[in-house]
Order: sequence, then structure tokens, then C-alpha cells
Amino acid sequence: MQTIGLIGAGHIGSQLARLAVAHGYTVVISNSRGPETLTELVRELGPKARAATVVEAARAGDIVVVTIPLKSYRTVPVEPLIGKIVIDTNNYYPQRDGHIPELDNESTTTSELLQAHLPTSKVVKAFNHIYAAQLTTDGRPTGAKNRRALVIAGDDPGAKATVTRLLDEFGFDVVDAGPSKEGWRIQRDTPGYGPRRTAEQLRADLKAAKRYSA
Ligand SMILES: NC(=O)c1ccc[n+]([C@@H]2O[C@H](COP(=O)([O-])OP(=O)(O)OC[C@H]3O[C@@H](n4cnc5c(N)ncnc54)[C@H](OP(=O)(O)O)[C@@H]3O)[C@@H](O)[C@H]2O)c1
Repeated sequence: MQTIGLIGAGHIGSQLARLAVAHGYTVVISNSRGPETLTELVRELGPKARAATVVEAARAGDIVVVTIPLKSYRTVPVEPLIGKIVIDTNNYYPQRDGHIPELDNESTTTSELLQAHLPTSKVVKAFNHIYAAQLTTDGRPTGAKNRRALVIAGDDPGAKATVTRLLDEFGFDVVDAGPSKEGWRIQRDTPGYGPRRTAEQLRADLKAAKRYSA
């Protein structure tokens, strides 16, 4: 697991690229406008980074992060992600994404939508409830007192174990919310969405989370 591909290089994508490079990974970043628009970020990231097309970033990554506005999830290329771990940071904001009926009626979750689009990939929700800026300021070494924790959710235990190790390396404890269908417990407007929380606090937040319709 040496290369992280990023589909999306905005607030979250660029911060995850910084974290990954700081921890010795190679990153291949991409956006919707093309690699030539990412020159400045690549320069900042240094020799472990390059910009590419979305398909190339998907192909290059041992792990690939999808971090784009949710409304565009169907543009994520399927074939280069076959069998791969895909980290999904995306959240649903109807004012940005338009209305998605299956999310409005709570019959699915954002990660289940991406998983259905990428049937053979192993989608793991992560990094969706921390402000982008805090990704590079809030990490602490393993075992640090009051270490910040982040939630994951997903259906593949092996993929979740790999993502857990990555998050730990990046400086965060991990709380497993369960399968992708439980990902709503850390969606917009739930108690754990946004604030700095330890693992113990986050576990309580997940338990206290309510559906929008409740
Ligand atoms: N901002 C946060 O603090 C935060 C925290 C947690 C989770 N999130 C979630 O994470 C996702 C990304 O958020 P963000 O704040 O990083 O967004 P952002 O700053 O708006 O960046 C979005 C990135 O995605 C790229 N993009 C858009 N459509 C694309 C497509 N079809 N294919 C490939 N790349 C595409 C954009 O490239 P172009 O500029 O070239 O279009 C841009 O690099 C969202 O779902 C958001 O809700 C955000």
C-alpha cells in the first residue's frame, strides 16, 4: 500500500494528499478540470506527488479516495477501481447536490450509493465528519491522551482494517460504526458530525444519532 489515488483535490482531497505525503506515501491527485490545473498543489506536495486524470489516479492508487461533491458520484470510473479499497469522504447537501430521493427517504446511505456504483470495490466511509483544515492539525501519535477519533463504516472487514491502520498512521483513533448502512449515524446534523471527539465520545454520539425522520 504505497500509492494513494485521489479523485477530488479540493478542501479534503488536498489535505489528505498533504497527510499522505507527510507519512511517506506517493499520491496521484485528480480533479474534474484536468491535471494541468493542479500544478501548484503538486509543487507544494513535492516529488512524492503527481497530477493525473481521474482514470489514471484511480488506476495508480493502491487505495483510492473519492472526495467530490456527492452529486457527481456516478462519474467515478468503475473499471480501474475493481477490487480496490475506496475511501468515501462524501456527504449529502441537497442545496449543493440536488435532491437524491433515496437519501431524502433514508432508504440508503451515501456510501451505499457509491458501493452500488462500484460493486466490486470495497468502499469504506472515512474522513466525512472532520473539517478539512483539522486533518493536518488534529492528528496525534498512537496512544496519546484524548486523541481525536474518526468514524469508519463499510461492508468489507479487511478493507476496514486497512483503513483503520491508515487513520492511525495519520494520527487518529478509529471507531467502527458497522456496515455501510449504518453510515447515517455520522451524517450531517448527527452529534458526532464536526466536533472534536475521542473514541469514547464518538461511540456515544453514534448511539445517540437519530434519523432525520425521527
Ligand atoms: N470541506 C470539508 O471540510 C469536508 C469535510 C468532510 C467531508 N467533506 C465532503 O467531502 C467531499 C469533498 O469536499 P471538499 O470540501 O473537498 O469539496 P471541494 O473543495 O469543493 O472540492 C471538490 C473537488 O472535487 C473535484 N471534482 C468535482 N467533480 C468531480 C468529478 N466529477 N470528478 C473528479 N473530480 C471532481 C473538484 O475538482 P474541480 O475543482 O476541477 O471541479 C475538486 O477538486 C464532499 O462530498 C464534502 O461534502 C467535506
